[in-house]
Amino acid sequence: MNIHTYEKLWLVAAMVLIVGFIATITYGSVGLGITMVGDQQPTIEPSEISDDERFGEPRVEHVGENEYEAYVVAQTFAFSPDPIEVPANSEVTFYVTARDVIHSFSVAGTNINTMVIPGEIAEMTVEFDEPGEYGIVCNEYCGSGHHDMEGMLHVVP
Ligand code: CUA
Repeated sequence: MNIHTYEKLWLVAAMVLIVGFIATITYGSVGLGITMVGDQQPTIEPSEISDDERFGEPRVEHVGENEYEAYVVAQTFAFSPDPIEVPANSEVTFYVTARDVIHSFSVAGTNINTMVIPGEIAEMTVEFDEPGEYGIVCNEYCGSGHHDMEGMLHVVP
């Protein structure tokens, strides 16, 4: 064996190690059940929002005894519906999508805070016990009117 053969052996050994690491990482993740969340996001074509059964007419719907669904559309520079009105002692699932650019749906004083991306539907379920009034703001810079992009959430008795 000359020196070149050793070098080749080392190269091969290094390659095997690298491939081995990649395989471990790849199959290790699969084994742990890690999947891309992005693949599971419900989607909606922004151009089809107006004709959509839920988002064509943004609103709050009564779907169960104390259960409500709110369909909300964010666009420069407003939220719709505005105000969003839900009763106290309710469980509300928000479905929020964006018509144009990335916004956020952030309800001040609560932990409701989600990015709203065109083409995707953000979903979160929240329980409201007490009546109250909350301001809704957009936390993602979305253009000249970003700082004025506000809405209201009324939890009514
Ligand atoms: Cu919408 Cu900032």
